[in-house]
Amino acid sequence: AEKIIFDTDPGIDDAMALLFAHAHPNIKLHAITTVYGNGVISDCTRNACFINAKFAIGAVVAEGASGPLQRPANGPTICVHGQHALGDVQAPLDTPIEIDSRPAYQYICDEVKANSGEITLVAIGPLTNIALALQHDPDIVNHVKQVVIMGGAFGSDGNFGNVAPFAEANIHDDPDAADQVFTADWPVTIIGLDVTHKAFFSGDYLEQLRHSAGEAGEFIWQVSRHYLKFYSERFGKDGCHVHDPSAVAFVADPTLFGTRSGPVRVVNSGPMIGMTVQKTDSLPYYDDEFSHFRSQEVAITVDDQRLLAIYRDSI
Ligand code: BDR
Ligand code: CA
Repeated sequence: AEKIIFDTDPGIDDAMALLFAHAHPNIKLHAITTVYGNGVISDCTRNACFINAKFAIGAVVAEGASGPLQRPANGPTICVHGQHALGDVQAPLDTPIEIDSRPAYQYICDEVKANSGEITLVAIGPLTNIALALQHDPDIVNHVKQVVIMGGAFGSDGNFGNVAPFAEANIHDDPDAADQVFTADWPVTIIGLDVTHKAFFSGDYLEQLRHSAGEAGEFIWQVSRHYLKFYSERFGKDGCHVHDPSAVAFVADPTLFGTRSGPVRVVNSGPMIGMTVQKTDSLPYYDDEFSHFRSQEVAITVDDQRLLAIYRDSI
């Protein structure tokens, strides 16, 4: 099984992804590291500890960054993820916060080196912890197996963002961190809106999960109520896109996705801040910001029906 450190800002779809990672036989959840994003860091850590205990996941939890590397935080998106980031579900305020004594970036560096060549970093929130780990110990690039992230939007379907015309939420929260992660010399696969908008958890699909997948199915249904209200009010749709679970799906079965290769950068100022760009052609630019960096993989196609079936079977 793939050993993963799961870096997350739970978060409704983060919770859906976490239960998926726990359930899938090809994945061994080594640890959960938390980051601000969908909620403030204290809410995200509490939610992670709550789910970890409720479903007897037993992962180590390490708490991460409370804000971006070098700019003020955008703040939680309460309209999408609710007051404390799990929709209408509230992790009890007295949930035991059992966390490692090290900050997430330190934990990541230590564990990646102690398990050289074995750890896949799965990051489904702002990339601050991963960038801090890189800054703290650049040598981790030689010890990580791969990095899989949910974030970005590359426009293969004409869409470049969800929180801004040219930015997806996780990248928009910390564009500087994202650029550092994509340009580091390690293999990154980016699962962005190009594919997460192609997979859809319909209202019926979630009802079915509720009735066929025990406590996990019930929990996923419950946390999704607020999310579905947002989708119906904002887009007139009954259901939600499959963002964070798609990154887990890639680790479980990469054949679900088609990817394209090329160096990736992130716009870090101006009206397109947070935009993700991949250089895919071989035009001989005489001055470019890409060629010094290794190619990364960007997911462009997904077998959405098979993904939905794998998710349901696992849960
Ligand atoms: C991403 O942003 C957050 O709202 C979700 O949890 C997901 O990681 C989607 O753009
Ligand atoms: Ca997330």
